[in-house]
Amino acid sequence: MHRKVTIEPFRIKTVEPIKLSTAEERRVWLQKAHYNPFLLTSDQVIIDLLTDSGTSAMSTEQWAGIMRGDESYAGARSWQRMEAEIKDLTGFPYILPTHQGRAAEHLLYSKLGGPGKVFIANTHFDTTRANIEFSGAKAIDCPVEAALHPEEELPFKGNMDIPSLLKTIDRYGAENIGAIILTVTNNSGGGQPVSMENARQIAEIAGEKGILFILDACRIAENAYFIKQREAGFENKSYREIAREMFRLADGAIMSAKKDALVNMGGFLALKDLDLALQCRTSLIITEGYSTYGGLSGRDMEAIAIGLREVFDPHYLEYRIRSTTYVGDKLHEMGVPIIRPVGGHAVYIDAKSFYPHIPPEQFPGQALACKLYEVAGIRACEIGSVMFGHYEEDGTFVPAAMELVRLAIPRRVYTQSHMDYVTEAFRELLDEREKVRGFRITYEPPFLRHFTAHFEHV
Ligand code: F0G
Repeated sequence: MHRKVTIEPFRIKTVEPIKLSTAEERRVWLQKAHYNPFLLTSDQVIIDLLTDSGTSAMSTEQWAGIMRGDESYAGARSWQRMEAEIKDLTGFPYILPTHQGRAAEHLLYSKLGGPGKVFIANTHFDTTRANIEFSGAKAIDCPVEAALHPEEELPFKGNMDIPSLLKTIDRYGAENIGAIILTVTNNSGGGQPVSMENARQIAEIAGEKGILFILDACRIAENAYFIKQREAGFENKSYREIAREMFRLADGAIMSAKKDALVNMGGFLALKDLDLALQCRTSLIITEGYSTYGGLSGRDMEAIAIGLREVFDPHYLEYRIRSTTYVGDKLHEMGVPIIRPVGGHAVYIDAKSFYPHIPPEQFPGQALACKLYEVAGIRACEIGSVMFGHYEEDGTFVPAAMELVRLAIPRRVYTQSHMDYVTEAFRELLDEREKVRGFRITYEPPFLRHFTAHFEHV
């Protein structure tokens, strides 16, 4: 390979047409979707950066695996392959297959949670928080301070803040902590990586205090890339070795296979403790499926087993992270305010700085996501006050900590010219900054309102 140029390390064998559209068409569609990009149909979108979850392109080997899938109810060959692959990677003896990450979260956190229990994470992802709170327990985030400062360039802004972790344990009592959860990379904290040193410190504290330590490992290969590049002592280890080392610090792991297992559906729960595994297995059989398929078809399990190997290929990982960085660096050079340094799976735009004239209660992130769609047909996701803001009973507005728009990049799906199209769209957005107005909500459901809320221009 040429030393300075990173290329997509694959050829394209099957193509999926993109339906192109005009700005005029998109204005009408967006209005009909009540200015909520979640309510658009995929045909109305040119480049879909809503999520990197379940949107990967599978490889020829994975598609071949789909044909080999064994659909037996019990003890399928495909299950044996998936189980063996996960055991080898994680080192955990008990593996429970689920249809996606949140199903694994539900199995585990409904057992460990309940009223009076507290969970501590670097940042809880929204389904993690929802599963914990649904059980009656409390979810507390302890990110490092730098995570709240988009411009601050630090290597591991996904880390958990150890002093706040210790303080929180003291405050609630170790016996009331359901688990410490380390999410790698830290999705809700800007896709930022977590260092091995941070995981080690957490493992030590959890061990001392007898608290369960769970890894949310859905982007662990991307996290391993950053450790190898940025953390002393890991230069000569393979990405897979780094991931294995991190798994071995924890007592269990949850993984949404829709990210770093390079598949469109799937997940698992992996545990060290037999008793806990048996309890979760009972719920698994009641809610997901028998213990050798969970919520999955045999062919899905085959594709997961293959994807979990492919994702650690150094050429793939280099291409993956470099292509995200490519988008982030270009936007940064153009003067678009983003979370720095660029994370693994997405570029996060600081909409509060982009539209300083739109106050948080008028949702600058929603305004940016809508404008991006109108101008270029690019769909992105607001992660700000639409998602996390609320009103107190006395009518005061409590905004989210940050007003972000996430450009999540699907794995192996878009080419560099697609990404150039994305960055070019921002030139137009930059030129028309002052003209853009905020939004007010006209309809919202009681939970997770960002998915279905309706908006109108202020
Ligand atoms: N944990 C993290 C860190 C996640 O990012 C996700 C999903 C889940 C758990 C839940 O997994 O979707 O398979 O049930 N994140 C997606 C996203 C939805 O767009 O970031 P799931």
